[in-house]
Amino acid sequence: MFSAKTYRNRRAALTKKMNTGILLFLGNVYSPMNYKGNPYHFRQDSTFLYYFGLDQPGLVATIDPEEGRTIIYGDELTLDDVVWTGPQPTIRSLAKKVGVTEVKTKAQLTKYLQAINPINRRVHYLPPYRAANKIKIHEWLNKPMGAIERDYSTDLVSAVAEQRSIKRAEEIKELHNAVNLSAAMHLSAMRATRAGLYESDLVAVAQGEALKKNSHPAYGIILTVNGQTLHNHHHDQQLKKGQLILADMGAESPLHYAGDITRTFPVSRKFSKKQKGIYQIVLDAQLAVLDALKPGVSYRAMHLLAAKVKVEGLKKLGLMKGDADAAVAAGAHALFFPHGLGHLIGLDVHDMEDLGEDNVGYDETMTRSDQFGLAYLRLGKKLKKGYAITVEPGIYFIPELMDQWKKEKKFLEFINYKKVNEYRDFGGIRIEDNVVITAKGYQLLGDPIPKTIKEIEQVMKP
Ligand code: GLY
Ligand code: MN
Ligand code: MN
Repeated sequence: MFSAKTYRNRRAALTKKMNTGILLFLGNVYSPMNYKGNPYHFRQDSTFLYYFGLDQPGLVATIDPEEGRTIIYGDELTLDDVVWTGPQPTIRSLAKKVGVTEVKTKAQLTKYLQAINPINRRVHYLPPYRAANKIKIHEWLNKPMGAIERDYSTDLVSAVAEQRSIKRAEEIKELHNAVNLSAAMHLSAMRATRAGLYESDLVAVAQGEALKKNSHPAYGIILTVNGQTLHNHHHDQQLKKGQLILADMGAESPLHYAGDITRTFPVSRKFSKKQKGIYQIVLDAQLAVLDALKPGVSYRAMHLLAAKVKVEGLKKLGLMKGDADAAVAAGAHALFFPHGLGHLIGLDVHDMEDLGEDNVGYDETMTRSDQFGLAYLRLGKKLKKGYAITVEPGIYFIPELMDQWKKEKKFLEFINYKKVNEYRDFGGIRIEDNVVITAKGYQLLGDPIPKTIKEIEQVMKP
């Protein structure tokens, strides 16, 4: 964990904004996979980690800014527990490490919250994303289940989102660490690639790389020869010469900050001419965006910049035509680029998505577009120094989408469907890096990971 001072400072900054009511933070509990005693890998709630640092199930915390009291609630292990888990540090001793001296039991928490009259004092909580925590709020605050998601505190969401969006030096260090762990996953997969293996062979190698370092993937690994399917979590395909592998995978740092990296590389270890053509366009789009990043520019503008570079490149290859600005304004590029350019990254891969994408990625100056493609952009608002973000342009050939648009005669003035059809089996290419916005531009998170055609072929050289 970070120092007690870090957590104290974070809580102090929060209570400057949230100075009335009671702030309630729910940690996570084990989630059963198929029965209670066989749970999924435990992942602590990220906001709980941010303010309280403690990485174990069954904890809750409250801050009462009016009385100046911060309390962590949890039940110490019984001797029976110790028989199964071995001796563990007490919650009291752990709480001290994050600057909290008051520790109470969960029964005391229930009594405390149930005694609060909501007319006099508001209990502020964040949108719960796990059923177990919704049930607890239901019991503690005597709220109907249906009202729990609706009644979250928008004030607390805004305060937390604003604070967690700006990454401080100690967090940036963690993010560097996470990206370097993620890079090791990618390099191992690239080096292990051989026709005849299965996607799952490479997943095993990459995941093993994270596990070896006592890390864990930050999200479900995407490693597929069907990169055109954006979130493809199947790993059952055999690798064939001529195919491209799209690998989107990242690891968590020791304090659970995420890396989110994508590389696309050829099964044959060398890109074909056709693959090079598309790859270079995606890379050009990413480099153009990186070049333009700085505080004050909106991420929607960056998304549209990436789209324009792609249209210009696709025009050169004969897949698109017409005026690039008009094509982007109309949304014609979304046939090839149906997702957003990126998102905030931090303790969550899609940082704070649990607080509501629009609460985090948009504000009063920028509302989300409903145009196909642009509508999936998770971060649209202006960038600030300290934002950590992903930059992840891609070009995909999605046969179902191509056929539908062609049938509808959509954007005939911008899309050359005959030529596009020659790429039916191409798959998809995405290149994703993580950066932090600095006063004048950006800093790459982690050491550079091979990404030019030459660099990737070099890594993959037998
Ligand atoms: N790893 C999912 C994403 O790039 O957003
Ligand atoms: Mn990704
Ligand atoms: Mn991403």
